[in-house]
Amino acid sequence: MYEMDRRDFIKLIGMGGAVIVMETGITEIVMEMGSSAGAATMPQETLTFIQLSDTHWGFNDPKINPDFAGTLKKAIAQINSMKSQPDFIIFSGDVTHSTDDPKERRRRMAEARDIIAGLNLKNVKMMPGEHDAGLDNGEAFQECFGKTHYTFKYKDVNFIVVDNASDSTSSIGDTQLEWLSAEMGKLEKESKIVIFTHRPLFELYPQWDWWTRDGAKAIDILMPYKNVAVFYGHIHQEHHHMTGHIWHHAAKGMLFPLPAPGSLPKRVQLPWDSAHPYRGVGYRSVVPKTDEYGYTLTEIPIAEV
Ligand SMILES: [Fe+2]
Repeated sequence: MYEMDRRDFIKLIGMGGAVIVMETGITEIVMEMGSSAGAATMPQETLTFIQLSDTHWGFNDPKINPDFAGTLKKAIAQINSMKSQPDFIIFSGDVTHSTDDPKERRRRMAEARDIIAGLNLKNVKMMPGEHDAGLDNGEAFQECFGKTHYTFKYKDVNFIVVDNASDSTSSIGDTQLEWLSAEMGKLEKESKIVIFTHRPLFELYPQWDWWTRDGAKAIDILMPYKNVAVFYGHIHQEHHHMTGHIWHHAAKGMLFPLPAPGSLPKRVQLPWDSAHPYRGVGYRSVVPKTDEYGYTLTEIPIAEV
């Protein structure tokens, strides 16, 4: 089951999903929402993107990840070696590890940007996490990477990046919510829509800041649309949840895992396990299906290339 919560697994199966654990250790989750329970079909590949999250460049505790300087580079080498390149890659926040020093923050961002430039793939989308943007309202991030909320479209899928990290109160804010509402208003109710955020929009575990203070307002805006999925980071582990008909998929982090929500007294980085290097870290590929509601998520572990 590969680090998937049993309840989530049962929920997925109950929703008509199937989980295939491949020999490589990669988990393939085939969502067949709207089809008969238990059915699983391989997707007709029209578009592939990679979600890579929480690289925390600048983090340097060897007890948590002795390969703190090399893990992201390994992922980039892996992606470069993929036979068929994805359409784009999104870094879903916490590109850098937070620092109080504005100069050091900018240095970390510039370094991360240079490493990411090593991707053969040039369609790279960036968005901030609170480590990047929470201490200066996104100023350094915008200098280095540009806008923190924006839309784009690939093939028939509409992507909307929502910034719930720059505001130090864990909020999206009314101005951006109005913008989101206006952008959604341009789309048909049946449009395929993917939302990228850093924090979860729903209240996963507010005690650990695993929520968005005004996330319910964003979900209300999304709710009239039939085919919406939210992909986020922040919690450094795979997690799948539904609000109404909307899926919310959390990605693993690139550098260290965090505990399951509320499973430990404190939200602490889980230590490196030398018997299982890179356990709990990785990234994923996502393939929206050609039919109305399905997504295939493939969780990809870090490996030497
Ligand atoms: Fe993070």
